Amino acid sequence: MTQTLVLASNNAGKLAEFGQLLAPLGFDLKSQGDLHIPEAEEPFGTFVENALAKARHASLISGLPALADDSGICVPALGGAPGVQSARYAGEPRLDAANNAKLVHDIARYTDKSAYYYCVLVMVRHAADPQPIIADGTWHGSLIEQPRGQGGFGYDPHFLLTRLGKTAAELSAEEKNTLSHRGQALRALLNKLA
Ligand code: IMP
Repeated sequence: MTQTLVLASNNAGKLAEFGQLLAPLGFDLKSQGDLHIPEAEEPFGTFVENALAKARHASLISGLPALADDSGICVPALGGAPGVQSARYAGEPRLDAANNAKLVHDIARYTDKSAYYYCVLVMVRHAADPQPIIADGTWHGSLIEQPRGQGGFGYDPHFLLTRLGKTAAELSAEEKNTLSHRGQALRALLNKLA
């Protein structure tokens, strides 16, 4: 029997990627937009709190189990910033080019250029679920000033994978899924559900 699961996101790429991997486990993934669920607030200082808030909100309105993710890039030299503010690091409107320019500017005076992407996934069976299923992934790299590559999105052209000598934007979609914070979190979630 298939179980409808709401994805607390309207990102078509995430819906396709998550939906494909969850289908063999009997989940039929629907985006919250398809169910006319408005986006939840993300007011918290941690990724897990924001993901939990999004999952609960989608589950409360739909009456269905829900899955949410929250992700961003963290830079130790900047005290973990941009962190949960990654999408709006340079303010509104949310623009990758402005966010990247600010990050390159802010990191310039530090010798430690290390950075990592982080993703957390939270699944709730119902809005008051006392035991949400939580899985996460971390992807380590370092920041470079000059952008490289056309793939990916967000901070990828400045995120260098030291071992590969490539930025995340120079990887194919398959390579990125194999290595990325989001791919790791999704595989960890699938292991917990299996
Ligand atoms: P969201 O959790 O998908 O909304 O992502 C939050 C923000 O983190 C994005 O808008 C990007 O700025 C950044 N981010 C998260 N994952 C990635 C990634 O894989 N590549 C580049 N930027 C990312």
